[in-house]
Amino acid sequence: MNINPSPLFKLATAYWDSSLFLTANRLNLFSVIGRNEKNASEIASELGTETHHTGLFLNACVSLGLLDKKDGRYKNSALSETFLVKGSPAYLGEAFKYSDDLYPVWGKLEETLRSGKPALRPDTILGDDPEKTRHFVLGMHNRALGVGRSLIAKIDLTGRKKLLDVGGGPATYSILFAQKNPELTSTVMDLPGVVAIAGDIIKEFKMEERVCAIPGDYTKTPYPEGNDCVLNSGIFHRETPETCRMLTAKAFQSLEPGGLFAVNDVFCNEKKDGPPFVMLFGVNMMLTSEFGTVHSVSEVIKWLTEAGFRDITGTPLPPPMPHTVIQGVKP
Ligand SMILES: C[S@@+](CC[C@H](N)C(=O)[O-])C[C@H]1O[C@@H](n2cnc3c(N)ncnc32)[C@H](O)[C@@H]1O
Repeated sequence: MNINPSPLFKLATAYWDSSLFLTANRLNLFSVIGRNEKNASEIASELGTETHHTGLFLNACVSLGLLDKKDGRYKNSALSETFLVKGSPAYLGEAFKYSDDLYPVWGKLEETLRSGKPALRPDTILGDDPEKTRHFVLGMHNRALGVGRSLIAKIDLTGRKKLLDVGGGPATYSILFAQKNPELTSTVMDLPGVVAIAGDIIKEFKMEERVCAIPGDYTKTPYPEGNDCVLNSGIFHRETPETCRMLTAKAFQSLEPGGLFAVNDVFCNEKKDGPPFVMLFGVNMMLTSEFGTVHSVSEVIKWLTEAGFRDITGTPLPPPMPHTVIQGVKP
């Protein structure tokens, strides 16, 4: 037998990398350095950490490509300067703070497997804990700003006037669609704790006249009528097939004839065992929501067909984004 055990060692220590990176992000290391070069003691004094230990920590960050080092001074690598410094247009630091919040939750995977319940009570990040809710919503916003550029290119809302963005979270997609389509107004429906933060984001983008966020539970609250587009982005992975079917039928009912239904999500393969990122994403959803999972594209196409949608298409977003947009038209 000549099998190399390296993949197992890699799996056993992968959390070292995650912990180093998430700690650096939590301490705002990359923003503290900004566009400057600093030595370990200057950085330690700004972070409020111990100098010797900080030196080793910084050198480990260099080894992972997060920092560059020259003559004992540290600066951000191109990667960190682009995505991890507050104020950068492509800033993703809040999205990674949400990953940081979930770090201890992954340590409870065995608990979830035994109990069949999420290790993190879903309400924690959906309103109950204001700070964690903010990390979740701003994290979604950071990510959606990146994904949104591709998403709005794949969903043609030319000439459409009324969008309903179900579980629209930070309202990012609604804002981007309204910016691109001058005749469009959008209503985001989400849970009350999330809607409050979405309201701040809508104001920040000065879109209050065209985008509004209303509190509602998509499983219970009736939808506003007369929509010519309904978007369900990132919500099917929280729900059972029965609820997804119900949401599809509810979208159908609230649409005008000719109206468009778009489902954007991360989907697994037809055998439901890959690709790896999607399967781990499904486990992440299982740890954080009651019915968290991943569905396949063909399941969603079936639900749309059963509800009466026609001209159904599935379009993957360009890599590295793992999303696919499935669209159907109400005859
Ligand atoms: C992964 S986020 C997706 C946000 C956004 N649509 C996107 O794609 O980036 C799921 C959203 O569904 C919302 N949500 C979860 N359960 C809900 C419910 N029962 N009613 C309304 N919104 C809900 C969450 O608050 C969250 O904003």
